Amino acid sequence: MEIIVCKSYEEMSERGAAIIAAAMKEKPDFVLGLATGSTPVGMYHALADKNRAGEIDFSRVTTYNLDEYYPIDPKNDQSYRYFMNKNLFDLVNIDKANTHVPDGSAADPEAACRAYDEAYAKTGYADIQVLGIGRNGHIGFNEPDAALTVGTHVTGLTEDTIDANSRFFASADEVPTHALTMGMGTILKAKKILMLINGKQKHEVLTALLDDKITTAVPATFIKLHSDVVVICDEEAYRG
Ligand code: PGA
Repeated sequence: MEIIVCKSYEEMSERGAAIIAAAMKEKPDFVLGLATGSTPVGMYHALADKNRAGEIDFSRVTTYNLDEYYPIDPKNDQSYRYFMNKNLFDLVNIDKANTHVPDGSAADPEAACRAYDEAYAKTGYADIQVLGIGRNGHIGFNEPDAALTVGTHVTGLTEDTIDANSRFFASADEVPTHALTMGMGTILKAKKILMLINGKQKHEVLTALLDDKITTAVPATFIKLHSDVVVICDEEAYRG
């Protein structure tokens, strides 16, 4: 695992965008794994700037997102589909037909999860998977638990995650209680993992990434099993 410590959120975002841009230039039919949350927004905007400047091209890029609330209408402004359109897809020359977010409005969510994994497998998996990290150690909606799930699945949200995400809703009562998420196995199939971590509130969880233990109590520790991981963090997260 390579750790890059940056002075600021802006520097973290630029470093992340530079890694993705360099890899995209090598492979026009790039498969990009994406995450939501406040952490990657600066990096997505930096990628959009590079696209606007003609440095990178999204016309043949395919994307797969980690997760989506369930149930939620993709048009709802709290959905992760809406978030991705607003923060990346609408800002670059990507074909929306090549962007994939689990379907929060699926009548049969279990079947939608299976179909998601099957379609994702056909791409050969992400060239780079972008990850944020929850302060409780979740990645996607793989929450701390006695066991983790391998494939994309329906899951309940923990109180801590509902509380953390309630800042985007009128109240905690409005945060959906379930989600569809790539499983830990799906995530680890990516060829490279790029994790972004910023802010003091992530210091404790970043510390858990730096020892040599893995535990389902901190799901993100499973990325230690992957052979190509870059963690980019800011000094606040690193030093606490
Ligand atoms: P955040 O969320 O980027 O908004 O902190 C990260 C996550 O929960 O994965």
